[in-house]
Amino acid sequence: MSSAVSLSEIDADAPVLRDFGGGPFGVYVHVPFCATRCGYCDFNTYTAGELGSSASPQSWLAALRGELAAAADRFAGLPSATPEVSTVFVGGGTPSLLGGDGLAEVLDAVRSAFALAPDAEVTTESNPESTSPEFFDRLRAAGYTRISLGMQSAARHVLAVLDRTHTPGRAVAAAREARAAGFEHVNLDLIYGTPGERDADLDASLDAVLDAGVDHVSAYSLIVEDGTALARKVRRGELPAPDDDVLAARYERIDTRLTAAGLTWYEVSNWAANDSARCRHNLGYWDGGDWLGAGPGAHSHLGGVRWWNVKHPARYAERVARGGLPAAGWESLTDDERYLERIMLTVRLRTGLPLADLAPSAAPAVDRIIADGLAIRSADHLVLTDRGRLLADGIVRDLLA
Ligand SMILES: C[S@@+](CC[C@H](N)C(=O)[O-])C[C@H]1O[C@@H](n2cnc3c(N)ncnc32)[C@H](O)[C@@H]1O
Ligand code: SF4
Repeated sequence: MSSAVSLSEIDADAPVLRDFGGGPFGVYVHVPFCATRCGYCDFNTYTAGELGSSASPQSWLAALRGELAAAADRFAGLPSATPEVSTVFVGGGTPSLLGGDGLAEVLDAVRSAFALAPDAEVTTESNPESTSPEFFDRLRAAGYTRISLGMQSAARHVLAVLDRTHTPGRAVAAAREARAAGFEHVNLDLIYGTPGERDADLDASLDAVLDAGVDHVSAYSLIVEDGTALARKVRRGELPAPDDDVLAARYERIDTRLTAAGLTWYEVSNWAANDSARCRHNLGYWDGGDWLGAGPGAHSHLGGVRWWNVKHPARYAERVARGGLPAAGWESLTDDERYLERIMLTVRLRTGLPLADLAPSAAPAVDRIIADGLAIRSADHLVLTDRGRLLADGIVRDLLA
C-alpha cells in the first residue's frame, strides 16, 4: 500500500544526477520473476508463491513504464540531450516467463521513453524451458536482436544439483529455434565446477554448445553465494565446495575448445565468434559507459553517479506510483572509486588495461606481473596472458595494492 510522503522525503532518496558521459547509453530492464528458485542463485528474483498477490507481471510492467517515463523526465533536465539508447538488455530473473507478447511490451515501454538507435543491440535472457519457435518469432518481430539462454550444463545430474528444470537437450534446441527465427546473435551461458561435474560432463556441455552453432558463449565458475540453498548444503557437508584447481583446469579446457572452434575470448568469461558477436551492452558496463537500470533492485550509472532501486517488486511499484525514481540509495563515485572500477573491469578485457590509466605507484606491480608471465605489454595496454586470465582477481589486487 502506498503511503503519502512529502516531496522532501522523495528528494532525499533521489539521486543527484550528473550529465551523460559521452559514451554509449544502455538500458537494463530487470524482470524479477522465476518459476522456481535455483539453489545457487542469489539474484533479486521471486517465485509466484513468494510474491502472493503483492505483485504480478502486470503490476511490474505498469511500474516499469512509470519508472522509464520518470527517468526520461529527469534526464531531460540535464544540460546535454539524452543520447539515443544504443543497447537494451532485458535480464532476470526469467524474462521468458513474460512470453513473446510481454517482452514486446517491455521493448515498447523503452521506446516510449527513449529514442532507440536504429542499430541498437536488444538482448533478452531466456530460460530454455520457457521458449518455443513462436516465442522467438514474436521477439524477432518486436525488434529484439540477440538471445541469451541459460544452458549451464548438458549433464542431467549437474542440472539436478543446480536445480535447473530443463532437460539436457532443451537449451541447444532452443538455440537452434532462435537461429531459425532469424537471430544471428545467440549466447549460451555455462556454469562449470558444479559439485559432481566430471571432465566428461564438461566435454559433453562443450560438444553441445558447439553443436548449437551459437556465436557467443559465457562461462562462469560456480560461485557459492552466502544465503543460498547451495551454501547451506556445502556448510552441512552435503556437497563439496568447488575446488580451485579443478576450476582452473575446467576454464583452460573451455578456452582451448572454444578457441579451436573459432570462438575467441574478449572478456575473461566471454567468448565470441567475431567482433559483431560481442555483447555491446556488457562492453558498455566494462568500459564505464552510462546505463539506466530499470526494475526492482536494478543498478544505474550515469556520469559517475550510481543508484540502485528498491528490491521488492511490491515496494518498487509503490515507489514508482509516488513519482520520481524508485531509488533505495545512491552515491557519487570518488576519483579513487572510479580508478578502482576502471582497473578491475578493463584488465579483464582482451583489449587490456591502458597503461596510461594506471597510477605511477602501480609501475613495480606491472613489472612483476609481466615478469611472472601473467600479462604482456601490447600497444600501451596491459593484456592478460592465458595464465593471467586464471589469476585475474589476484592481478587486480596487486595493481591496486
Ligand atoms: C541470474 S541468471 C538470469 C537468467 C536466467 N534466469 C538463467 O538462469 O539463465 C544469469 C546467469 O547468471 C549465472 N549465475 C547465476 N548465479 C550464479 C552463481 N552462483 N555462480 C555462477 N553463475 C551464476 C548463470 O550462468 C545464469 O545463466
Ligand atoms: S532461473 Fe536464473 S534467475 Fe531464476 S533462480 Fe535460476 S539462475 Fe536465478
